[in-house]
Amino acid sequence: MRRPVARFAGFGRGIPPKVLTNHEFAAMGLDTSHEWIVERTGIVERHIAAEHETTCSMAADASCTAMHRAGVTAGEIDVIVLSTATPDRLLPATAVDLQAAIGAHRAAAFDISAACSGWLYGLTVAEGLIMTGTAETALVVGSEKMSAIVDWTDRSTCVLFGDGAGAAVLRPSTDERGILSSYMRSDGRLANLLYRPQGGATIPMSEEVLRERGHLVKMAGREVFKSAVLCMAESVDRALDAAKVTADEIDLLVPHQANIRIIEATAKHAGIPMEKVFVNIDRYGNTSSASIPISLDEVTERGIVGEGSLVLIAAFGAGLTWGSMVVRL
Ligand code: UT7
Repeated sequence: MRRPVARFAGFGRGIPPKVLTNHEFAAMGLDTSHEWIVERTGIVERHIAAEHETTCSMAADASCTAMHRAGVTAGEIDVIVLSTATPDRLLPATAVDLQAAIGAHRAAAFDISAACSGWLYGLTVAEGLIMTGTAETALVVGSEKMSAIVDWTDRSTCVLFGDGAGAAVLRPSTDERGILSSYMRSDGRLANLLYRPQGGATIPMSEEVLRERGHLVKMAGREVFKSAVLCMAESVDRALDAAKVTADEIDLLVPHQANIRIIEATAKHAGIPMEKVFVNIDRYGNTSSASIPISLDEVTERGIVGEGSLVLIAAFGAGLTWGSMVVRL
């Protein structure tokens, strides 16, 4: 097992208070049911941001808790890596708005775009910055206002997503605790399975784009599902091998929360019983890159895992992108 370079010093989450239940979709005139959504996805409800709650404000809430728990001040943050598929503005990065909001004036701040895998990608980048001595204290955030980019008339996508943010402070490791392995992959040949076709620089926003809903999320659900099962299985194997640990040694699997059936398939493949798998998709839906840091905040807050626990993380998302990590908390 390699000696870790960076460890988690504190987690936090920022969740908008408003809850949208499955039952409310039918009341909105959507041809769906609570039973279908629960059976096919495991989702019961999700949180939805109000107009004044932004990707930046949720990220700030999560970051303040993470910094407090880590015992670091905003002035000590050297780098902010913010993963999001829903930046508040297209220019500049939401990370600099977060920097201003929390007063981390010494930091370098930038966004990462790797969809639901973005927080894991961001951690790996921050770990590298700590390894080279470029940064000592990193704030790695996943924040998503998915409600702003889903098509509320498309039952195959709008029931899946929720809003929220999660954050972690990363510091140099001084002992056996920290990131023990990380594995990241992507396959751009499958980009159009989950994407927003228009509204970027190629086909800029226009009245027609808005009318045709070309700027909203489109997903080939069944194909994405199949890839998710295969990619997450591959990546947990790679991360376990690289860390030289067996599945039996893992205290908790913390997977991206996209679909309970994908989570169960990943656990089964890895040989990890569901009692050792954290699931909160029922309460949050799919919060994209925020799902893993929100989960890590919940499991550490509740004492499900603690200092010294061995945790396996697995992410998957648009791109397609995927990856996995073994960490000792
Ligand atoms: O965050 C990372 C990326 N995202 C994912 O990993 C998500 C991956 N995909 C999935 O989780 C699943 O594919 C979905 C939950 C999106 C869909 O579940 P499915 O079991 O794959 O359903 P399906 O797409 O094969 O559709 C089955 C039927 C269809 O009706 P017909 O054609 O059989 O008559 C759909 O139109 O279910 C219908 N359907 C719905 N029915 C009620 C689709 N969405 C709904 C809905 N309510 N909300």
